[in-house]
Amino acid sequence: MNPVIINLWYVVAAALFIFGLKQLGSPATAVRGNILSSLAMVIAIAVTLFNKEILSFQLILIAAAVGAVIGAIAAQKVEMTSMPEMVALFNGSGGIASLMVGWAALYSTGNTTFTDVTILLSIVIGGMTFSGSILAWGKLSEVMTSAAVVFGAQRFVNAAILLALIACSVMFCMAPAVDSPYLYAVIGLALLIGVMAVLPIGGADMPVVISLLNSYSGLAACAAGFAINNNILIVAGSMVGAAGIILTNIMCKAMNRSLGHVLFSGFGAVKQATKVEGEVKPIVAEDAFLILEAAQSVSFVPGYGMAVAQAQHVVRELGELLEKNGAEVTYAIHPVAGRMPGHMNVLLAEANVPYDQLVEMEDINPRIDNVDVAVVIGANDVVNPSARNDENSPIYGMPIINVDQARTVFVLKRSMGSGFSGVDNPLFFGDNTRMLFGDAKQSIAAVVAEFKG
Ligand code: TAP
Repeated sequence: MNPVIINLWYVVAAALFIFGLKQLGSPATAVRGNILSSLAMVIAIAVTLFNKEILSFQLILIAAAVGAVIGAIAAQKVEMTSMPEMVALFNGSGGIASLMVGWAALYSTGNTTFTDVTILLSIVIGGMTFSGSILAWGKLSEVMTSAAVVFGAQRFVNAAILLALIACSVMFCMAPAVDSPYLYAVIGLALLIGVMAVLPIGGADMPVVISLLNSYSGLAACAAGFAINNNILIVAGSMVGAAGIILTNIMCKAMNRSLGHVLFSGFGAVKQATKVEGEVKPIVAEDAFLILEAAQSVSFVPGYGMAVAQAQHVVRELGELLEKNGAEVTYAIHPVAGRMPGHMNVLLAEANVPYDQLVEMEDINPRIDNVDVAVVIGANDVVNPSARNDENSPIYGMPIINVDQARTVFVLKRSMGSGFSGVDNPLFFGDNTRMLFGDAKQSIAAVVAEFKG
């Protein structure tokens, strides 16, 4: 196909990617956004196959079929709560693909110095994205410790690896060749640096790392695009790179941590929260019903436990009953509640909770002291007052939903166990807190049953 026509199709695909991304910004249009982006990807792949330099269509088609089957099965099977692990694997796949593309580009003749540098970048960024993402997957899926791993002289070791990587990169660029020993050194050091970069990160900082690695995978793809002179790869890679860094920034703000802190301080590795003690006041569904029946305003605060219990449908049902009973009902959403960005929004949208009842943290906090009952459904870290009060807590400074300032707080969970960060929660011992122990779905269903008489 004529290169001009190929590039015109690439412009169409790029425009669809941009519209798709834009529509992913709201739950109401997200499905359409996903379809548009998939269409863009199909166009990009199909048009690329018209490139006259392609050597083997058979291998490409076999690989595409295998990839499509794996993708379809994985997408069907993955639990909503395991999405971050899946994203980590996606990022890793993107990284290794860019490394391979960069490596393969070394075989073409007539490369300029610029091409050699972009090849090097795609290999380095792709390699560290791959190994970092695999480690992040290991931490998130708990095949290894999810805590930050820090050891003495870690920064010194990392600096030495970085210097060696820079030195080998320079040597490689001076005489780029497929059989250059520096190429293998660069690949090995890039893989090592990915591991070393993710090792000291753990706990509640992991989501930030996933989105940062997402950004890296985009940058690696962009560099690979320059290496093989493919415009859609450059455009799509830059978009992923930019989207990833914007999300990283949003999440850092939501946790009140700077990116430098996330990357270098080792979550929870240095601080020990003050021990929490006190009296717990458990209640049963009948008591919860009596208090809720008298409430004028009720705010549900969902967290990871709501996703585990799949309680969203029965929560919506309780919300409707409360509204019928004359209460004002809101759903307060913390930006990092659950295990992925927008996790709670997705679950509540699935249960047909009206969007206008969803309230963001910044909007509910100033008026939370007017809320009669805050019903915490399987949330823990995102409502932990020690983030506000205890300077020794590893989550100190992370903005929370101030449910402890509501008139009454119900906490629905199965035990006194801690949340993702492993930090104790003084909320459970508050004077105005009542613990409704049990699976969130069963607890809410029991309250609904009381309402229905
Ligand atoms: P968490 O702090 O993880 O707490 C969840 C709570 O749910 C647990 O304390 C658990 O207590 C309870 N739970 C689990 N299964 C339950 C069930 N079937 N019924 C009732 N309760 C159940 O959740 P959160 O408050 O949503 O905070 C999210 C945390 O994850 C933050 O630290 C955040 O930084 C981190 N994180 C977020 C993301 C994103 S982007 N959202 C990604 C990765 C990590 P029991 O065991 O006692 O029931």
